[in-house]
Amino acid sequence: MKSLIKLVMVVAVAMVVAMVLTLALPQVALSGGDAEKGKALYTSKCKMCHAAEGEGNPGMAKALKVEMKALGSKEVQAIKDPELKKAIVDGNGKMKPVKLTDEEAANVIAFLRTLKK
Ligand code: HEC
Repeated sequence: MKSLIKLVMVVAVAMVVAMVLTLALPQVALSGGDAEKGKALYTSKCKMCHAAEGEGNPGMAKALKVEMKALGSKEVQAIKDPELKKAIVDGNGKMKPVKLTDEEAANVIAFLRTLKK
């Protein structure tokens, strides 16, 4: 009898754990990032060069002697997530690498997707 109660409890705990995991995981892993968090990160780490809407800061473009594509443009939006992440974290052309965790990168990419024109 005692072992039956134990078994029921183990099953109940396992069900709760499974429920929590199915509720929590998709937001982190499957749908990619959290655009709200990404926006905050963008504001602190990217906005000075890329401007609020990703259109690019003309002063920065001039100083770096580079044409900055709008992040919401078709060209940039056509870049797949893994390549975007690489461009941001490893740097690309005149843009220096920006250190981000995997989660931060996913969040900021989710935000970049909201800039699509
Ligand atoms: C110091 C200024 C600076 C900062 C900070 C910066 N960028 Fe950039 N970024 C640039 C420049 C300049 C380019 C264009 C590089 C080139 O074409 O040589 C660029 C290019 C890019 C591109 C590629 C667009 C293309 O032309 O293919 C992406 C995506 C991008 N930046 C995202 C970000 C994100 C996200 C952040 C913040 C985490 C960030 N950048 C921070 C200056 C910056």
